[in-house]
Amino acid sequence: MKILAFGASNSLHSINKKLATYAATFFENAEVNIIDLNDFEMPLFSIDKENKSGHPTEANNFLTAIGHADLLIVSMAEHNGSYTVAFKNILDWASRINGKVFQNKPMLLLSTSTGARGGKSVMEAAKTRFPFHAANIIDTFSLPEFNKNFSVTDGITDPDLKEAFLSVIQKTKSQFTIA
Ligand SMILES: Cc1cc2nc3c(=O)[nH]c(=O)nc-3n(C[C@H](O)[C@H](O)[C@H](O)COP(=O)(O)O)c2cc1C
Repeated sequence: MKILAFGASNSLHSINKKLATYAATFFENAEVNIIDLNDFEMPLFSIDKENKSGHPTEANNFLTAIGHADLLIVSMAEHNGSYTVAFKNILDWASRINGKVFQNKPMLLLSTSTGARGGKSVMEAAKTRFPFHAANIIDTFSLPEFNKNFSVTDGITDPDLKEAFLSVIQKTKSQFTIA
């Protein structure tokens, strides 16, 4: 089983990348590809740039990486209630090549933030929108107050949040009959 995991952020210290990476560790024996959105940096999308120069290689690379995966683990960072610019730019470019960006792949959709809502607004946006881009969302989980509830050594530290997270992992695993 091949997993593609990423935090939908270009922060070098992305907490969402940390959460996506942590989630991937629960899939024993999986081949895990953790990508960094900085490797898919492209000019700010504009219809004029597209008409003039076509699609950047990075947009195709992003679609190819998704195409190789059996499961997507995506953790959404929230900027002002919505997607980060870095993620939205990739989504916009990629969607111009293939509207079915997520290619019907099963997706575990996560979010976290330093705030109490754990990125619930961007989660709602993604949950509503991604199916239009052929995302097959199996389950979702938002981790509030990352700095309080997550440790690098122990992962999710709050017992109730950990239990909820594990049930989401279990549901995702059951799709692959590796529960
Ligand atoms: C421009 C900007 C806007 C933000 N807006 C929100 C927000 O709307 N909701 C929230 O919970 N956190 C917000 N934050 C805090 C982020 O949750 C925090 O920076 C987090 O680390 C982002 O995830 P990342 O580390 O994966 O990039 C914002 C941060 C920045 C820099």
